[in-house]
Amino acid sequence: MTEDVVAPDLTEDALARLQAAGDPRLKSVSESLIRHLHAFVREVKPTMPEWFAAIEFLTRTGQMCTDERQEFILLSDVLGVTMLCELINNQAGEAVTSNTVLGPFFVPGQPVLPMGATILQREEPGEALLVHGVVRDAQGAPVEGARIDVWQTAPNGLYDIQDETAPRGHLRGAFVTGADGRYEVRTIRPTPYPIPDDGTVGQWLKAVGRHPWRPAHTHFMVQKPGFQTLTTHLFMAGDPYLQSDAVFGVRPDLIVTPEPGPRGQEARYDFGLRTAVGAAE
Ligand code: BEZ
Ligand code: FE
Repeated sequence: MTEDVVAPDLTEDALARLQAAGDPRLKSVSESLIRHLHAFVREVKPTMPEWFAAIEFLTRTGQMCTDERQEFILLSDVLGVTMLCELINNQAGEAVTSNTVLGPFFVPGQPVLPMGATILQREEPGEALLVHGVVRDAQGAPVEGARIDVWQTAPNGLYDIQDETAPRGHLRGAFVTGADGRYEVRTIRPTPYPIPDDGTVGQWLKAVGRHPWRPAHTHFMVQKPGFQTLTTHLFMAGDPYLQSDAVFGVRPDLIVTPEPGPRGQEARYDFGLRTAVGAAE
């Protein structure tokens, strides 16, 4: 018997036991899971202590999860799986902005601010930045009534909900476009920051020699009935972590270059929305 066919009947047996699965999607996903997982184990040939260490790692990852912390999503993020799912489900196209990871720091239900308002609730040492542009449909027409949620870290690398000293809602806000589709947000230039690395994900990153840093970015979520929700970021050109984002979230069309303008440093970006599946064109 060659090494790579240890107990082939075991894999066949595990697959055959799915014959009674009622839901066809569940059946095919389960079959694929068994095929790939068995192939993985045949390739890796874990020792029993290694297999137990893996179980223990996953157990500790689950035990870290609370209403405020989702270590499993973080694990999916650093393995590139979250971004792969995003890309499979939301292919960017011409005039359609790329989706990227949502991350754990979105807070729904933020109050809508007047267009052009600042999202700062206290002074910060960062460089002032005006982010502005137009929300457009896939044909380039301005979209009225789009809700834009914005959030980012402070220069200390923390979101408001991670920082007990920060007022709630600091560096986050929501805006609604008018008939011209325009949006304008006053903020500060974002800075790179590390993802939470005090848990199992951080231990794994360190063990495999990877850093936990994300390139500087501001998050945006753009929603309007009839369009697919756009969950994205704008990244700053020249950032040292653009090529090695800990969660693989960078897409070339999301990199902006702030430039001096009549109102200080300005970053201009037009968001392109995709028509929702099933919505009338
Ligand atoms: C974020 O950008 O907020 C983020 C994304 C994925 C994991 C951790 C943080
Ligand atoms: Fe972020």
